Amino acid sequence: MKSIRSDEEIQSIREACQIAATVLKQLVDAVHEGMTTYDLDQLGRQAIEALGAESACYNYRSGDNVFPAYTCLSLNEEIVHGIGKLRRTIQAGDVVSIDVVVRYRGFIGDNASTVLIEPVAKESAALIETTRESLNYAISFARAGNRVGDISNAVERFIKRHNYGIVREFVGHGVGTTMHEAPQIPNFGRRGSGALLKPGMCLAIEPMINLGTGKIEMLDDGWTAVTKDRKPSAHFEHTVLVTKGDPEILTIPQN
Ligand code: MF3
Ligand code: CO
Repeated sequence: MKSIRSDEEIQSIREACQIAATVLKQLVDAVHEGMTTYDLDQLGRQAIEALGAESACYNYRSGDNVFPAYTCLSLNEEIVHGIGKLRRTIQAGDVVSIDVVVRYRGFIGDNASTVLIEPVAKESAALIETTRESLNYAISFARAGNRVGDISNAVERFIKRHNYGIVREFVGHGVGTTMHEAPQIPNFGRRGSGALLKPGMCLAIEPMINLGTGKIEMLDDGWTAVTKDRKPSAHFEHTVLVTKGDPEILTIPQN
């Protein structure tokens, strides 16, 4: 599918994004100390189903690996694609990244947020705020006439002022009928490079930022990416529509 969506496609993506955003907000509000990540994932499954959508993560394939959960729940040193577990209880001081991707009437909505379980180390709180701000800054470059590299460079420039590591192995992406469509949107890059942005593009922008090194390792489950130095990581993501004017964030709940 081409990366410029028709008005009808945009309407469907808009609805999928509203569901993804509503579910993410429910999980952000629900997560608490003492809860297992399995229960948080099940809450996500129920919330997605209650809104008539399905999880785009469940059964998602990457090579021979099939993702076994409904949401991605990544704690502390886990960066992305963590799997909820019965034996993993959320504790005070945890940094919990929640990633919700839904399919609704054939179209995708994708968003993520990172939550602190208080009391949390000051440096973790600062990492999370900076990562959130880097996403908002990057979104302001998602304008017709700019290029993908302008978004990428915005994240990199914003983060460079801090001593954080940028994850390079995972990137943002276009969304449409599948979760990962062109263009890829790295969180680093040169201004003015890459694909030209045009009205009708739907882009999932998602900085993954580490307190320490940007280097990653993969756990034996084949999915969970962790920081090489096991220091915490933060992840925020919105799906954004490029318009003739200002960028429109599709994954902010409207009601
Ligand atoms: N937002 C994540 C991404 O774009 C969601 C991945 S779902 C999984 O990669 F199934 F791959 F885990
Ligand atoms: Co994504």
